[in-house]
Amino acid sequence: MTSRLDKCRLIQLPRIQDARGNLTAIEGTDVTGFEIRRVYYLYDVPGGADRGAHAHKALWQLVIAIMGSFDITLDDGERKRTFQLNRGYQGLLICPYIWRELNNFSSGAVCLVLASERYDPTDYIRDYDAFLAAAKAQG
Ligand code: TYD
Repeated sequence: MTSRLDKCRLIQLPRIQDARGNLTAIEGTDVTGFEIRRVYYLYDVPGGADRGAHAHKALWQLVIAIMGSFDITLDDGERKRTFQLNRGYQGLLICPYIWRELNNFSSGAVCLVLASERYDPTDYIRDYDAFLAAAKAQG
């Protein structure tokens, strides 16, 4: 059986290479597997800052370092895995009930997130012990 952590994976994004600069386009459900209902991005992240530290109940996300680099540690309640994102043509797919922490942002890094749902504060689990209990209940 594929574990929740194994469902989270790096996806190679389509890349149109050109001497004038490269281009990546994402549309419909082709790349993400979900309809994109929201886009947000993190930028001007001060050195040493940590983001994330929560999980979601329903949200799927595709996270892309469109500028610079940062690390994302994913945790399904049993195992953890850290990814370094540093390419505009790679996206990290994150499924529900995964605790995520983002850190080691390089200067000028921009983290683009494509999300399956609109912003909903009730979809967040912000307490780690509550996450562990919820993740266990999910099986
Ligand atoms: P949060 O999701 O905690 O940020 P991160 O996980 O990147 O550290 O959100 C930070 C604040 O921004 C919080 O007050 C909620 C708000 N917010 C929105 O209003 N809309 C959004 O789409 C997101 C992602 C956050």
